[in-house]
Amino acid sequence: MSHLKKISVSDLIPGMYFCGFDGPWIDNPFWKKKFRMNTPADIRQAQSAGLKYCWIDTSKGKDVRDNAFSKEEHTTLSDMAPRLSEESSDLLEEMEEAQRLYENAKVITQTMFKQVRLGKAIDTAACLRLVDEITASVMRSSSVLISVARLKHADEYSYIHSVAVCALMVSLGRTLGMDETSCKEAGLAGYLHDVGKAFIPLDVLNKPGKLTDQEFRVIQRHPSLGYEYLRGDPKIPDYAANVCLHHHEKLDGSGYPDKQQGNVISVYARMAAICDVYDAITSDRPYKDGWDPAESIAQMASWEGHFDRPMFLAFVRTLGIYPVGSIVKLRSGRRGLVVKQNCQDLTKPVVKAFTISDTFEVLDSELVDLFCPAATDSVVERGGEDWLKLKGLSMNFIDHMKSA
Ligand SMILES: [Fe+2]
Ligand SMILES: [Fe+2]
Repeated sequence: MSHLKKISVSDLIPGMYFCGFDGPWIDNPFWKKKFRMNTPADIRQAQSAGLKYCWIDTSKGKDVRDNAFSKEEHTTLSDMAPRLSEESSDLLEEMEEAQRLYENAKVITQTMFKQVRLGKAIDTAACLRLVDEITASVMRSSSVLISVARLKHADEYSYIHSVAVCALMVSLGRTLGMDETSCKEAGLAGYLHDVGKAFIPLDVLNKPGKLTDQEFRVIQRHPSLGYEYLRGDPKIPDYAANVCLHHHEKLDGSGYPDKQQGNVISVYARMAAICDVYDAITSDRPYKDGWDPAESIAQMASWEGHFDRPMFLAFVRTLGIYPVGSIVKLRSGRRGLVVKQNCQDLTKPVVKAFTISDTFEVLDSELVDLFCPAATDSVVERGGEDWLKLKGLSMNFIDHMKSA
């Protein structure tokens, strides 16, 4: 007889043997999948995940009152609406938290680049604290910080790109099954991967339009320059310096600076290659507008020989086929702003479905879980070609969702 029992997360008490959440595993804030919950802090952490139900093993730990879950065991379709609005308010809270973290990270990263430019030592403790905070945010909700960072303004790119790659590395590390230490190492390496850009003249770095061969060669020196700099700092771990040097290598050996191939490229550097390119192409720059996230995933998938294939597939599982922040076309004719993934089916995310007027005014909107059996709508295709016009709208949507 099974001793597994599904209970409400609010009924967790110390002494119970936790066996996982009933929901997307990616939202699990714990590194261990099964363990005895010993302290109130464990309970608080479980409740901070924003998921409603979890599983316990009553043969290995305390049980809950017999009737604790019975009234909610059979969730009806009409219960889905309140569940979604609860999830939505959790999402909004996390989004506000992510925006605070984003602002803080911008200042810390600006300072870090300034220190590097002046040849001073990096404040490693401040970097590690920031990586810890970014990791915690990714643990609570894998996509929120990433989507907030994606909305960076073109002139903030240099700073927020480091934060975004850090968050993407942590998130990808989790999908790859890495433990907490490894995920944080990947995060730190992602955060520092482009420090060498501090040594590249800004007029070359931010040049609108096509670079000359000479300018391209100057830019291509940033991995080596960054590596030399990090190697000179005994507080910076070797793996971070390695990622700095090799994040532009490609699996088929056509990258730079060392034309490394396959598994010769370190695991963290292979991860960084994916996260770096994704953030670069989805970001606005002074000279180009960012691509739609879903379009970017589709394009990257078509680049033969660039990325480690299994790792790239894990990256797609991390972000979804329609990553948070994507605009999709729905069968009903409406558009949808993707606000959450459904890990059970990446083709059926939670979207804010909306209709817009010719003047891009929002006429109506509703939160729809496309995975819900009662959902009558579905994604027809990516809405990328309208992204330029709609992007301003997606920012409005964050405000709109806050006030909803
Ligand atoms: Fe780079
Ligand atoms: Fe980069």
